[in-house]
Amino acid sequence: MIEHLYIHIPFCPNICPYCAFYKESAGRERVESFLEALLVEADRWSAQLKPKTIFFGGGTPSALSIPQFENLLGGLCSKLDLSNLEEWTIEMNPATVAADKAALLKDFGINRISMGVQSWDDAVLKSLGRTHDADKAEESFQVLRHAGFDNVSIDLIFGVPGQSLESWRRTLERSLRLAPEHLSAYGLTYEEDTEFFQKLGRGEMAPDEGLEADQFELTSELLGNAGYAQYEVSNYALTGRESRHNSAYWRGSDYLGLGPSAFSTLGSRRWRNIRETGVYSKTTMAGSTAIDFEEEVSERVKAGERAAFGMRTNTGLLVSECSRWETELRQALGQGLVKLEGNRWLLTSKGRLLADTVAEIFV
Ligand SMILES: C[S@@+](CC[C@H](N)C(=O)[O-])C[C@H]1O[C@@H](n2cnc3c(N)ncnc32)[C@H](O)[C@@H]1O
Ligand code: SF4
Repeated sequence: MIEHLYIHIPFCPNICPYCAFYKESAGRERVESFLEALLVEADRWSAQLKPKTIFFGGGTPSALSIPQFENLLGGLCSKLDLSNLEEWTIEMNPATVAADKAALLKDFGINRISMGVQSWDDAVLKSLGRTHDADKAEESFQVLRHAGFDNVSIDLIFGVPGQSLESWRRTLERSLRLAPEHLSAYGLTYEEDTEFFQKLGRGEMAPDEGLEADQFELTSELLGNAGYAQYEVSNYALTGRESRHNSAYWRGSDYLGLGPSAFSTLGSRRWRNIRETGVYSKTTMAGSTAIDFEEEVSERVKAGERAAFGMRTNTGLLVSECSRWETELRQALGQGLVKLEGNRWLLTSKGRLLADTVAEIFV
């Protein structure tokens, strides 16, 4: 049985200039035919699905209207066996949070929210092209609390040009005052096919790596002091509030992804759905699978991927499972990137900063 289900909702009311996730602006008819196709795709897999975790990602799943949510959630609840479900997360953009929507999500059993706050500094929000300001984000957070959500995560971005260390400190402190159960803090990345990537190429944006390193260290320090464990390089949680869905990815568990651009990995088979909503909907409704990429992944490659993800977590890797990479890990030890603690390899704080470089050892 498949225990982890990802559902990609590819619509955003506004497109942010740094974001490379597959998304488009929503038109009502397009959304409705997409939802119809999504339920057909879910139905196809229903006999093999008994999810412990479901994750609605995007795009902006919270951009769906109330009737659209009733249709989607009602359909999923009737088609899938949810008797084992432990965690059901939805990503929300603060601009699309409303009390009636929050109540509906709660009623259908969604029990975890991941909200893209990004910053509590209005100037930084503006340079990120966000449509909400800090006050709206705080109001949305309170709306979610009033609706009864007791497992809320906040996404933040650091390393934004023009964002000082003080601005980032204030963002961390204001986040802590709200006492979310979980925080994700990402360094801004310049993804291909984004406006920011083009600006970087034209020299109109300039990353400051030294400042970004200071912001990263401040994050570990402030959140650590406040009782949040850095259980993965970019993720912090109160005890017991780690994301079960993402932890399953990092352990290398099987997962099914529905919707355009979604990846799935089942055993040695990995595939990706078509990255175009109209084609996805049409192909699925015509009774075909909307796959545009498929590969066989050997156990050796999977072990490398598991190690690359595992190394980013606070449990690291068992020495006994790393004989293949012993030479490279010893080298990284000499460079102060990793350390040996008991029977485990773990990242040092320098290694957490350069986690992508360390991950190259395994792939
Ligand atoms: C799908 S979005 C979250 C939900 C919603 N669409 C929103 O933006 O509020 C996932 C998260 O990825 C992060 N993200 C996206 N693009 C990024 C980039 N280029 N660099 C760093 N973080 C990024 C943001 O923190 C964002 O909240
Ligand atoms: S960051 Fe979120 S709201 Fe912005 S374009 Fe990406 S998915 Fe959409």
